[in-house]
Amino acid sequence: MQRTARAQPNIALIKYWGKRDSGLNLPAVGSISITLDTLYTEMSIELDPTLEADVLRINDEPAPGMLPRVSACIDSVLGATRERARIDSHGNFPVAAGLASSASAFAACVVAADALDATERSRATLANLAGRASGSAARSLFGGFVELANREDSVHVESLLDAGEWPLEVVVAITSEHEKAVGSGEAMEISRRTSPFYGRWLAEQDADLDTARQAIAARDVDALGTIAEHNCLKMHSVMWTSRPPLVYWTAATIACMETVRRLRDAGTPVFFTIDAGPQVKAVCEPSAAGAVEAALAATPGVLRTLRTPLGEGARLVNQA
Ligand code: DP6
Repeated sequence: MQRTARAQPNIALIKYWGKRDSGLNLPAVGSISITLDTLYTEMSIELDPTLEADVLRINDEPAPGMLPRVSACIDSVLGATRERARIDSHGNFPVAAGLASSASAFAACVVAADALDATERSRATLANLAGRASGSAARSLFGGFVELANREDSVHVESLLDAGEWPLEVVVAITSEHEKAVGSGEAMEISRRTSPFYGRWLAEQDADLDTARQAIAARDVDALGTIAEHNCLKMHSVMWTSRPPLVYWTAATIACMETVRRLRDAGTPVFFTIDAGPQVKAVCEPSAAGAVEAALAATPGVLRTLRTPLGEGARLVNQA
């Protein structure tokens, strides 16, 4: 029996950085993200009683390094005594370069695993199970503008607006195709232990979430951009002031931020955000997306650009 699910990455506008429980992988702060459309991960899971161990292939290559996390994610849905699985994952964008490939992968993983038995778990349950594998994956269960709120021993994830209700676009400027040196999970723990700004980061997050929620309800791109850039730069300040420092930016990352500021000064409705990697994501009105993409593509150090509208949450795509 095989099930295939597709999920898109999401990009946080109000960031998740820090865990309050690393065993359960519960985030220390709430977050708000947008789910993308044209980038995706498709994961097929086939249970096979003849297999002695799970087998994972990513883009047709064996991927033993990622296998323990994926196996644990499937266990969290189906139980550890399940039959072993053949897992095939395909994505159309670079892995581990700050483009949230783990978010789309684990969101697809829980949806495919869920379809392998008759339990029919709720979206809320699946979001919590995906979040246990990777905090940001919980948000890719939903489409459009998504808020993840902390509950006592779980997260509550919901869509604030569907993709079609405020159809912004995202242009990603790729400045490096290399895998990042320190993964987000490990880096967050370094920040929690060592950055003198970490406590202040936690203390201000609820106010940033309120501001962003209001901007989204009002479809106010300037207000959303102002709080999203501020929140992003605060997260990077926490990273920079960690010991050892966590600096994901390159010269091209900064050049892209300047390109976005220059466009905005000239009247274009656009803002940037940057995750734990060197890529810059510019969020804009659809009418501006062509000009934003051209300006970022012409920025020194940009290797290529991707452009996508907002999309829907993780879903099953076929049943064999
Ligand atoms: C900077 O979800 O990858 O992209 O829970 O340890 O898997 P783990 O972390 P992950 O962290 C994402 C961090 C971020 C900000 C965000 O997406 O909110």
